[in-house]
Amino acid sequence: MPGYPVLPEGLAYGGDYNPEQWPEDVWREDVRLMREAGVNLVTVGVFNWGLIEPEEGEYDFARLDRILDLLHSAGVYADLATPTSSPPTWFRRRYPGSRLVDREGHVLGGGSRHSFCPSSPDYAAASERVVTALARRYAGHPAVAMWHVHNEYGWANAHCYCPTSAEAFRAWLRDRYGDVGALNAAWGTTFWGLTYGSFEEVEPPVAAPVGLLTGLQLDFMRFSVDAHIACFRRERDTIRRFCDLPVTTNFMIPNCKPMDYWRWAAEVDVVANDHYLDSGRAYPQIELAMAADLTRSVAGGRPWMLMEHSTGAVNWQPRNLAKRPGEMRRNTLAHVARGSDSAMFFQWRASRYGAEKFHSAMVPHAGTDSRMWREVVALGADLRELAGVRGSRVAAEVAVVWDWESYWALEFEWRPSADLRFRERVEAYYEALWREHVTVDFVHPSADLSPYRLVVAPSSYLLGEAPAKNLHRYVEAGGHLLVSYFSGIVDENDTIHAGPHPGALREVLGVAVEEFHPLREHETVTLEPFSATGRIWSERVRLAGARAVHEFADGPDAGHPAVTRHELGAGTAWYVSTALDAGSGLRGLLGRVLDGAGVSRPRGLPDTLELVWRGDHLFLINHGDAPVTVHGVTGTGVLDGAAYDGSATVPTGGVVVVRTA
Ligand code: GAL
Repeated sequence: MPGYPVLPEGLAYGGDYNPEQWPEDVWREDVRLMREAGVNLVTVGVFNWGLIEPEEGEYDFARLDRILDLLHSAGVYADLATPTSSPPTWFRRRYPGSRLVDREGHVLGGGSRHSFCPSSPDYAAASERVVTALARRYAGHPAVAMWHVHNEYGWANAHCYCPTSAEAFRAWLRDRYGDVGALNAAWGTTFWGLTYGSFEEVEPPVAAPVGLLTGLQLDFMRFSVDAHIACFRRERDTIRRFCDLPVTTNFMIPNCKPMDYWRWAAEVDVVANDHYLDSGRAYPQIELAMAADLTRSVAGGRPWMLMEHSTGAVNWQPRNLAKRPGEMRRNTLAHVARGSDSAMFFQWRASRYGAEKFHSAMVPHAGTDSRMWREVVALGADLRELAGVRGSRVAAEVAVVWDWESYWALEFEWRPSADLRFRERVEAYYEALWREHVTVDFVHPSADLSPYRLVVAPSSYLLGEAPAKNLHRYVEAGGHLLVSYFSGIVDENDTIHAGPHPGALREVLGVAVEEFHPLREHETVTLEPFSATGRIWSERVRLAGARAVHEFADGPDAGHPAVTRHELGAGTAWYVSTALDAGSGLRGLLGRVLDGAGVSRPRGLPDTLELVWRGDHLFLINHGDAPVTVHGVTGTGVLDGAAYDGSATVPTGGVVVVRTA
């Protein structure tokens, strides 16, 4: 990747900088405060299209020139954005064919961002022109350290159903299938007699009276990812004609379901992610950790950039909770612990106008005589101390399978139960592992699994033959695999694997499922011989090589296997056929599986302590309400300068980072 990392030294610290919303005397205060806080990188120009091209083909770069010069004079680098996520008002008026159309056929309005069709040729031409002008002008500007293309592809306009998109979809299908017979076979269109006579007959999956073909839905999801990637490539390749600085775009892992980030990762020079704390959750720090681990995994284990998070409340949740004292620091340092080489925020200074005026910022409306500003300055100091972690890697012995296509397909309509949710199961296993202090990578099921002692596949509903064989080979070669219910059911076209479920995994698991028995909304079942409960799901499992470890004590499958274990080759495959309760059930079982797989982890620590190794740095983040002493720690405290000789005590809500000897 050209020129990454972007800064000459240390971690990047800063945020989205929108000085165009302020008079110039505020800019001078901005750069003074940036220096005070240790800010060294800001994202500039991300929504500037209408400002730098006020009329089609007429450019005005005077303001951006002054901003970049000012940043340079203050020693702050720019992550220069292309402004194409927010087309100007003239564009919308002049090119009505580029307007975004939703599933119900509504043409979506302006006065907002992301309001364009990703397949529009007019959008392509206009965005290429503005990016060319921008890249030509600023390729050599000394403030520019990297390029930030667009903003959050696919977040608000993932799918467009306009006539242009429909035509582009048909072209995409022709390319994928060659002839319509192959498409019919893949989608199983003999069902309901929906056989297509030609590609011209295919419509995007717009709102239909009932039960859409699932193959059609899946391919439209794939097509839409490609449509956005094509937009990105056009801009990236335009920039590369003028300069070879790193080019990225900000992903939204894992909260933008329609974007398949395994596919996106290959396109960027450095993976960058935006993550906002879901403050409505009981333990939002666990979802944060999951997002960071998934981002690192998408980056192939390489360091990545946290491009946006928030100092405090956001403005778009039902209840926007302010972060408590110390919470921002814990959040930021958890991202760094899990592989981020940067800590960037949306945004530098809180806006007074528009939709986001109640969103927190590094400089809040309250100004610098505020707790938030003092924490921002202190965080800058922490990040300077942590310069030595830059570039280092996070090691994991456990992998969790994550496949966006399976996520989509599992949640199409008409599944055996509305309670089957991809993230529900992934998060249940992730939380249990987090509380066991086990760091995980996420993997696509066809990835190389040999580095891992244990692979967990929670609800891997869609699993093609090749990835299923990959899991099989992994176990035969000595790996440990733990699979939860409703996995390996369909292939890449959402067609059921022939024979009893779970078709793709029957052999490796040594079980056959005769019938699904989803549970009622609040119904639970009990497992024996250990007292655990299950929710959501139960099914009639027949042993076909595996042995039963636990049985259902009650419910529709009383007396039949609930958890099984299959020795295969040099490895072991476990199968769990219900949603085990998070406490003794899931963690109890997982503890035994981890032990069996030889996964190393500290014992006896409270399960609210986050513990992560990044290179030779040990990060200890205390989310609990009492101090925690961790034994076996020797080295230098990076944030506090302390010498740790055998143990480290982490204060309530505090963070200790030890560079180990
Ligand atoms: C992000 C977006 C930012 C800002 C932020 C608010 O998704 O990239 O521009 O809107 O959300 O949380």
